[in-house]
Amino acid sequence: MSNLIEVENLTVEFSGPSKGLFGKKGTPITAVDDVSLYIKKGEALGLVGESGSGKTTFGRALLRLQEPTSGQVKMHGQSGSKVITDLDAKSLRKAWQEMQMVFQDPQSSLNPRMTVMDSIAESLIVNGLAKNMEAAKPRVLEVAQSCGLSVDQLSRYPHAFSGGQRQRISIARALVMQPEFIICDEPVSALDVSIQAQILNLLIDQQQELDLTLLFISHDLIVVAYICDRIAVMYLGNIIEIAPTKDLFKLPLHPYTEALMSAIPSDDPDQQLMQAGISGEAIGNDATRQGCLFAPRCQYADKDKCQNVKPPLTEVNNNRLVACHYADKLTLNGFETI
Ligand SMILES: Nc1ncnc2c1ncn2[C@@H]1O[C@H](COP(=O)(O)OP(=O)(O)OP(=O)(O)O)[C@@H](O)[C@H]1O
Ligand code: SF4
Ligand SMILES: [Mg+2]
Repeated sequence: MSNLIEVENLTVEFSGPSKGLFGKKGTPITAVDDVSLYIKKGEALGLVGESGSGKTTFGRALLRLQEPTSGQVKMHGQSGSKVITDLDAKSLRKAWQEMQMVFQDPQSSLNPRMTVMDSIAESLIVNGLAKNMEAAKPRVLEVAQSCGLSVDQLSRYPHAFSGGQRQRISIARALVMQPEFIICDEPVSALDVSIQAQILNLLIDQQQELDLTLLFISHDLIVVAYICDRIAVMYLGNIIEIAPTKDLFKLPLHPYTEALMSAIPSDDPDQQLMQAGISGEAIGNDATRQGCLFAPRCQYADKDKCQNVKPPLTEVNNNRLVACHYADKLTLNGFETI
């Protein structure tokens, strides 16, 4: 399998909160910190980490919905290879036909004054893939049905639907463009558990049928394990571990991954971390930080190397990468039932 997406040294900085009476700019926050990774064609890559770790910013930066501060994003799609980070505005809009994003809250991404039919057809017409509504209709019907929406539902407005149905509409809106790559940002975390499985199964079916490549962002490791081939774990904007799903669950190599797993099945991430013995906030990532970013919360940290030297993300095993000085010495606990 060749790579569809290649990310090289991607960094996104935000200016820190203003300080003092005259609004002097604070130290910049590095939300995404020099991240490099690939996603293979047809693969589902999961991205997990606690709130504020930079998952959404990373996803948005891949599409340039958030401009990166530095680094490159390349896509090797059916229309050829392009460097997304170098495209001008017009070419970027065209590239968005091949790269779509599904958000956590479908309510805010659907226009309340548009029927479902209009909403799904809109991108086809705006991007010149259909001349008018009449021309768009067959494709909209086909995609809506594949997403479990019936024909008579298409003339209704978003408020008439449940959260799960609205997420089906959002997925149909993304799929109608026949994208090769979809970023799903917490697509099921606002839904009841019983509905979550339906939406995840819909994504799995569509991914297999259309050979889609997915970046699936979630704070919920179990949800990610259900859908993803590999998982990347993010901490303060850094990828600290990346591995095939089964291997990661069987034997995590980074203490933070172990901590995330130790408290499954709590669905409250803060509760998870507390149970795992790493209560306390992650201290922000700015240029002044030294050593391993996880050291202040790590039960295995030493007083020398961990405090002073940042561990690089290193290949330790075929297809596995980890950023911990002691990855080859620690024996960590995984989560058995995956
Ligand atoms: N527009 C912005 N301006 C300034 N800081 C921002 C902005 N967007 C995000 N941040 C900061 O960047 C960091 C990463 O935020 P991000 O939303 O990407 O995290 P996340 O992992 O998606 O969190 P969650 O799980 O809560 O969705 C946070 O510290 C956040 O406060
Ligand atoms: S490098 Fe040190 S502080 Fe960082 S995760 Fe490994 S043991 Fe913990
Ligand atoms: Mg987010």
